[in-house]
Amino acid sequence: MLDSQTDEIKSKLSVEEVLSAYLQTQRAGRNLKAKCPFHNEKTPSFMISPERQSWHCFGCNEGGDIFTFIMKIEGIEFYDALKLLAQRAGVQIKSHNPENDGKKRNVFEIVEMSRKFFQECLKIKNGKLALRYLQDRGLTTDVIEKFELGYAPDSWDLLSKFLKSKGYSETDIAITGMTVKKDQGGYYDRFRNRIMFPINNIGGQTIGYSSRVMPGSNESQAKYINTPETLIYNKSKVLYGLDKAKSAIRQKDLCIMVEGNMDVVASFQAKVENVVATSGTALTLDQIRIIKRYTKNIAFSFDTDSAGIKAANRGIEMALAEDMNVSVIAIPEGKDPADCVKKNPELWEKAVQNPKLIMEFYFDSVFSKYDCDHIDGKKKIAEELLGIIGNISNDIDRGYYRNMLSDKLELDEKIIFEYENKIKREKSGFVERIGTNNIAKKRMITREDQLQQRILGFIILYPQFFQDLFLDLEDYLPDDRINGIYSDIKNLYQKEGKINDELIGDIKNKIAAKSSIQDQGSSILHIWNVAALAVEKNIDEIGDMRKEAKTCVVNLKKIRLKKEVKELEIKMKNDAINEDIEKFDKLYKELNDLENK
Ligand code: UTP
Ligand code: MN
Repeated sequence: MLDSQTDEIKSKLSVEEVLSAYLQTQRAGRNLKAKCPFHNEKTPSFMISPERQSWHCFGCNEGGDIFTFIMKIEGIEFYDALKLLAQRAGVQIKSHNPENDGKKRNVFEIVEMSRKFFQECLKIKNGKLALRYLQDRGLTTDVIEKFELGYAPDSWDLLSKFLKSKGYSETDIAITGMTVKKDQGGYYDRFRNRIMFPINNIGGQTIGYSSRVMPGSNESQAKYINTPETLIYNKSKVLYGLDKAKSAIRQKDLCIMVEGNMDVVASFQAKVENVVATSGTALTLDQIRIIKRYTKNIAFSFDTDSAGIKAANRGIEMALAEDMNVSVIAIPEGKDPADCVKKNPELWEKAVQNPKLIMEFYFDSVFSKYDCDHIDGKKKIAEELLGIIGNISNDIDRGYYRNMLSDKLELDEKIIFEYENKIKREKSGFVERIGTNNIAKKRMITREDQLQQRILGFIILYPQFFQDLFLDLEDYLPDDRINGIYSDIKNLYQKEGKINDELIGDIKNKIAAKSSIQDQGSSILHIWNVAALAVEKNIDEIGDMRKEAKTCVVNLKKIRLKKEVKELEIKMKNDAINEDIEKFDKLYKELNDLENK
């Protein structure tokens, strides 16, 4: 059902139309070109194919259809992109679960209505105390209103009564998390005598609450109580403040992570608006991926005592593993950003302009822990930092920091090197915790990848060359998906005794039927589309198509053969076996033949 709806939307909105609203495009043959909005580039490598209704950037390797584009550029989930485009296309989205939809609508309404109730309560009776407290902490009326802060009265049922008067049943209200079920039956209000921070989704709709105890209340109460998981609130997928921060995050190309709701609000007060926080959880992978739709740069702002570092470690590690640039903003004054803003907003404004790279931060914090003029201190410093440095996956970065360490310790790099080897065997716990060893680097696109892609493109666009040029490639296409498409084509060729545009079209239709809309970007159809685009991309520069296609094949084979020769060389170095020598000669000859072509 979803697929038929996406098809309908696609039939009404062209890829050019949708993408042109965000990009400056220029014609490039049957395609369009633009500068990629998802990475920085001077010359356009972002291609749009109206024919195939797809797009791909050959610079950063992102690609897909109109839905993936909207998801990425708007920073929204698939379903929201679907809704947005459906609206633009004038297509009515049918829900797969109308009953659930009705329930969800109720939850939204009740949560929203509660918000207005809490906001009103801030103006009366005890609510005034809450308001005064917020003002005492330096918040202006503007920012209190912007964040729609409120007060939950000190009562077991005032909110419930209010909601019931609006026509909702007890069970309607209960599933929103605004009330709690009593053991002996009945319900009571969850939030009582608390300062209410509405938590919004990316679209700005309130989905839940984080509530702070009133100052001077009973110490035994939890400081914060949050909405439990509901139909609309999933705490590990939401970031407090993101609905308001998202455009600043994109603009500044940086997302600042703070610890508390108060910190987000206070930071806005100080005109630093690219700030978000989690609500009552450690940072999750889902949250990092959401941030990543807006920026690759994340700065953690935390108390630089060891507890603060420990709390941020996991998040730092995950962000690194997601290939984000991680930095740290030290809080210049006070225990948290809210404190700092209260004392002096300019201090916070200045601090956020100077995020420290995470490695720099580790250097500073380790160096300040020990005496680097003393040999014992030097050892300790080297131990802690080498553990971290050893885990950096990039060779150049690793060398750079090792060098920096030897400079700062005034020790020869050779000594550092030996010491590193020694401690590698006896890793310390600290290192394990903050180690960046599981940094999942995005795989580099190799020359071989490019050639495989182009060759598939030639096969798709010029099937007439198949018999001549592409008959014996199965051993030269290590990419399983490309190899799979290739064998489908080859099988059909063998069955039909020929291959032409029409047969290629049949194969494509079969692939399209199998590709699900949900895995856009990794689907076989996408591989197909990108391959064709890879050839079309610089079609103007290619004089002789057949010659170009042939060159690609020869180069691909060369890469493969060179690899094999190298492997054999290594093997022969270890144990010279006649059989290998024969094989080597044969390979070498093949390679030579290719070179001569
Ligand atoms: P903090 O204790 O630093 O709270 O916890 P805060 O927001 O800075 O509050 P102030 O400054 O004392 O008014 C940071 C965050 O940890 C979560 C909340 O999301 C809070 O904003 N937290 C804290 C809880 O979920 N439960 C708690 O009991 C305490
Ligand atoms: Mn605080």
